[in-house]
Amino acid sequence: MPGLFITGTDTGVGKTYVTCYLAEKLRREGIDVGVMKPISTGPAAEDDALYLKKKLKLNDPLELINPVHLKHPLAPYPAAKLERKKLDLKKILKTYKELEKRHDTVLVEGIGGVAVPITKDYFVIDLIKAMKLPVIIVARAGLGTINHTMLTLGALIDQHINIAGIIMNGFTGKDKAEKTNAEVIEKLSGVPILEKLKWSA
Ligand SMILES: Nc1ncnc2c1ncn2[C@@H]1O[C@H](COP(=O)(O)OP(=O)(O)OP(=O)(O)O)[C@@H](O)[C@H]1O
Ligand SMILES: [Mg+2]
Repeated sequence: MPGLFITGTDTGVGKTYVTCYLAEKLRREGIDVGVMKPISTGPAAEDDALYLKKKLKLNDPLELINPVHLKHPLAPYPAAKLERKKLDLKKILKTYKELEKRHDTVLVEGIGGVAVPITKDYFVIDLIKAMKLPVIIVARAGLGTINHTMLTLGALIDQHINIAGIIMNGFTGKDKAEKTNAEVIEKLSGVPILEKLKWSA
């Protein structure tokens, strides 16, 4: 089974939440799932990689789950620039290969959305291409998501990236747009909505 790259229409849309959800679901089916956050930024204590390691009780060392950590809570390009650090993109691909050997499948959580810069001329979408993984897009449930999701789909389709589907996250039952968004996106794009997840807090 190939791995999956979990991207989002934006930061904070629920990529980590969905990564946990999918990992737990696959595990229930008897699949050994590895998880990777190729680049994390910001305080270590709030780190997605640490959260995923603890929540999913992952045995892999943190350096494999998260090969690149930058301390400023910014997109990787400005975060690396502030630290005067050169990002090692080859290390990310090598680490993925190692995780792939250790598990039946690997879920890779992206960084923000597809147009987030990793260097000045290398974006998350370029990383997706380099990793050669099909993509799941995590999108918000409510108003505004049609625009964000269609823009994300357009960028991925332009680059001939394989899209496994969309997961809409955070249905509250209170936003009128939630009732029609999924159907509209499916109809306009032809890409399946794989799940509609409720806001569970
Ligand atoms: N369906 C949900 N029900 C309850 N809480 C949720 C749900 N989805 C996301 N959250 C919460 O919303 C916040 C943002 O979600 P999450 O961290 O998964 O976003 P993200 O896309 O991974 O963000 P980042 O771009 O920082 O990696 C978190 O506190 C998370 O626990
Ligand atoms: Mg996250």
